[in-house]
Amino acid sequence: MTPEPPGDAPRDLLRVRGLHTQFVSDRGLVHAVNDVSFSVRRGEALALVGESGCGKTASMLSVLRLLPPHRTRVRADEVSFKGRDLLGLDDEEMRRVRGPEIGMIFQDPRASLNPVLTIGRQLTESLEVHLRLGRRPARHRAIELLASVGIPRPASRFDDYPHQFSGGMCQRVMIAIALACEPSLLIADEPTTALDATIQAQILDLVSELRATREMAMIWITHDLSVVANLADRVAVMYGGSIVETAGAQRLFDAPAHPYTQGLLASLPALGGEGRGRLTAIPGQPPDMTRLPEGCAFAERCPHAFDRCRRERPPLMPVGKGAPPGERRTRPGAQMALSAEIGARAACWWTG
Ligand SMILES: Nc1ncnc2c1ncn2[C@@H]1O[C@H](COP(=O)(O)OP(=O)(O)OP(=O)(O)O)[C@@H](O)[C@H]1O
Ligand code: SF4
Ligand SMILES: [Mg+2]
Repeated sequence: MTPEPPGDAPRDLLRVRGLHTQFVSDRGLVHAVNDVSFSVRRGEALALVGESGCGKTASMLSVLRLLPPHRTRVRADEVSFKGRDLLGLDDEEMRRVRGPEIGMIFQDPRASLNPVLTIGRQLTESLEVHLRLGRRPARHRAIELLASVGIPRPASRFDDYPHQFSGGMCQRVMIAIALACEPSLLIADEPTTALDATIQAQILDLVSELRATREMAMIWITHDLSVVANLADRVAVMYGGSIVETAGAQRLFDAPAHPYTQGLLASLPALGGEGRGRLTAIPGQPPDMTRLPEGCAFAERCPHAFDRCRRERPPLMPVGKGAPPGERRTRPGAQMALSAEIGARAACWWTG
């Protein structure tokens, strides 16, 4: 199991320990998530990054118990939210956590919206069910929410269907639905993929503002490191179904420890310019998730690989002495979350 520092449990909003997820497929068992551990604190923004297929979505869907049980095997030592064991909840109790307590924005907003229900109804349904609002107050609140995510003339768009909205508008609606019940944690899976840069910037501003005013924690899955730089307090880098590095965002950019993270950052142009900051491929192929190697999953692509790397899988180990106080960020809501742990950990024999 990948260790996190002891003594920080009470502040954790979400704690995940030793999560494993496998899919039953025609090609055999897909080892999508392998011994993943992480935690998120109140008000903290954690970014989850890594190449396509490394297990980001599968990790989050496992935590939310949204994977079909007949084709999936999920086990974990711990998945707890506000101290409650999510794995022990029945389906009805879990439905009361998803939405009101943990908001979700899925990878494809159009596929996540119901095409035969109006935008307004999709919002009011959640408000009526989870916040037990009557129809009129729910409508009023839904219009407020549409306005808060920047939908122009929200009252007149209330009865429109998803196909009458652009991709960016659907994205905003998904954000409004996710925020409707004012969750303590927002899980956003590639929420700005395929949006143009202006709309993406608007959505990021909006989420930052909502985060500051509501002290909401976030897990933000993205391929885009410029988004990470702007939004995240802490970063977890995934490779081959495992977290291979965690660090404060600033520290990760300044001193990436794991060779995979170093490769990702080295393949980037300088952050900050228009259209910059997207992860580009580093040489070689990600591992076949049905046949993960015994040792380090990155060994075939790693410039520092040596014999031990192919024999044994390295655990996450502390790297360096932790970040200096000057690195601590003071974004509203994040101070407490960052006070205890901003040092880096990497799963690598070379850096350990
Ligand atoms: N339902 C499924 N059945 C079989 N294999 C699956 C299923 N869903 C995901 N996988 C496999 O599990 C692995 C992890 O997938 P996942 O969707 O979590 O990746 P990801 O990191 O979210 O990638 P992306 O950045 O492309 O969204 C991949 O190898 C993927 O092909
Ligand atoms: S454990 Fe070995 S192969 Fe893996 S990243 Fe470190 S040096 Fe490279
Ligand atoms: Mg995904």
